[in-house]
Amino acid sequence: MAIERTFTMLKPGVLSRRISGEIIARIERKGFDIVGSKLMRISRALAELHYAEHRDKAFFQELVDYITSGPVVAMVLEGDGAVLMLRRLCGSTKAEDAAPGTIRGDYAMHTGLNIIHASDSVASASREIALFFRPEEIIDWKDGNNDWI
Ligand code: RTP
Ligand code: MG
Repeated sequence: MAIERTFTMLKPGVLSRRISGEIIARIERKGFDIVGSKLMRISRALAELHYAEHRDKAFFQELVDYITSGPVVAMVLEGDGAVLMLRRLCGSTKAEDAAPGTIRGDYAMHTGLNIIHASDSVASASREIALFFRPEEIIDWKDGNNDWI
């Protein structure tokens, strides 16, 4: 697979539950390179842009309310086939379908309160990374010890 970048956001429940370390550990353990990371309190305007595709859905206001209710950790991850690999690690959108062993499967009972966002395509990832990060906030690093990934 090709090296890709994807965007992820640890939603407010992560900070309030004090589990950001656990979630980031799972992301790192899988083998993603963290090339961008910051704590943010996002505005309604940014939340609405980020989730613009859902503007007409019944859950939109609830989603924006939740995502702006506290700080989030926004991250850019890099790796082979990173977009799909992260979606798999996160698990299904519907809480009842998210398999145990996935991040969503292990940490949420309700779809609207799942704890992590992951870009759904390379195009979405580019759009979302540009919304949340300036180019100079992304660090393209390699430690020369990535053979196992
Ligand atoms: P995300 O964008 O957050 O990574 O989630 P996703 O692609 O798996 O799912 P998507 O359809 O894009 O939905 C975005 C977020 O909206 C909330 N949602 N609530 N109450 C509901 O029926 C419902 N459906 C979706 C979830 O927080 C979902 O992550
Ligand atoms: Mg989505």
